[in-house]
Amino acid sequence: MPHAIEYDRFGGPEVLEFREIPYAVAGPGQAVVEVRAAGVNPIEWKLRARLRPSGEITAPRRLGTDASGVITEVGSGVEAWSVGDEVIVVGARGAYASELAADASQLIPKPEALSFEQGAALGVPAGTAHQVLASLGVAEGDTLLWHGGAGAVGQAAIQFARRLGAEVVATASERNHAHLRELGAVPVVYGAGLADRVRAAAPQGVTVAVDGVGTDEAIEVSKQLVADPDRIGTIVRGAEADGFGIRYWSGGGPEPLTAAEQALRFEGVALAAELAARGEFVIEIAHRYPLADAAEAHRQSQTGHVRGKIVLIP
Ligand SMILES: NC(=O)c1ccc[n+]([C@@H]2O[C@H](COP(=O)([O-])OP(=O)(O)OC[C@H]3O[C@@H](n4cnc5c(N)ncnc54)[C@H](OP(=O)(O)O)[C@@H]3O)[C@@H](O)[C@H]2O)c1
Repeated sequence: MPHAIEYDRFGGPEVLEFREIPYAVAGPGQAVVEVRAAGVNPIEWKLRARLRPSGEITAPRRLGTDASGVITEVGSGVEAWSVGDEVIVVGARGAYASELAADASQLIPKPEALSFEQGAALGVPAGTAHQVLASLGVAEGDTLLWHGGAGAVGQAAIQFARRLGAEVVATASERNHAHLRELGAVPVVYGAGLADRVRAAAPQGVTVAVDGVGTDEAIEVSKQLVADPDRIGTIVRGAEADGFGIRYWSGGGPEPLTAAEQALRFEGVALAAELAARGEFVIEIAHRYPLADAAEAHRQSQTGHVRGKIVLIP
């Protein structure tokens, strides 16, 4: 029997249950994917802990949006995919599972050169990074300040921004600085005195900033250093962004992503997969857990100090 992680009530990691689920069926326009790896994103434990609104739980709730695997069945009307194709799934409904049914529009070919773990690591992080940089119009001549450079989204953002021709200053603790330098960023330690350290790291001035961590410091320093508030965004403090006078994309904010922003997210995953297959994009896997140990994976993610990506292996 296939298995999935589910929860019946909000709470700590202990509410996550490893359960048998019915076999997935490919409806019209869908494919069944045997999951080889699923990506863990902070939003999943935020929803589980009710730190983000998501409606009452009236039936066992599945979680996870990012996966990779192999197609085992295709539904009617699906021409582009065949049994045996290796795919990346984005926007899945319940990726913490050994198999799932996905719409054909949620599938991206997994390049052979990428492992399943790497494929599962891309969805939310690469999609978000690519979309946010595009929405902010990051280009050559810009100096980007990214708060939270060592996380999965931060690492993707540094690499995309460098490809766009921008200089990047990224915050991280000291032990992660060598890695961020390899990705092309100038790393700075966060904490008291951050604005001065960023000024020293980027004497040319910062033109665009993203809060990818959710601290008051990230918001305040961005506002101090970037003249145009339209070029400051947050992906964590969406609910307060209007009050801060800055932009937001999700992160608990009132307005959902536009269709164009969603399309950019999809495009970002495909682009990262292509670049990674050519050895031009680094995907760091920090921790792997068996699917049944999803609670442990959440505990790890909740430390807030994972460098790279956590994946679950069914
Ligand atoms: N709005 C959206 O659509 C969207 C999409 C994706 C993610 N997000 C949110 O964006 C955030 C980052 O996501 P993620 O997947 O990259 O998370 P993650 O991988 O768990 O990020 C962990 C990283 O955060 C860094 N960090 C912790 N405290 C920091 C601080 N005070 N200043 C700077 N960096 C700090 C850590 O680096 P050190 O160990 O060096 O401190 C660690 O590497 C999460 O809050 C997530 O929910 C939002």
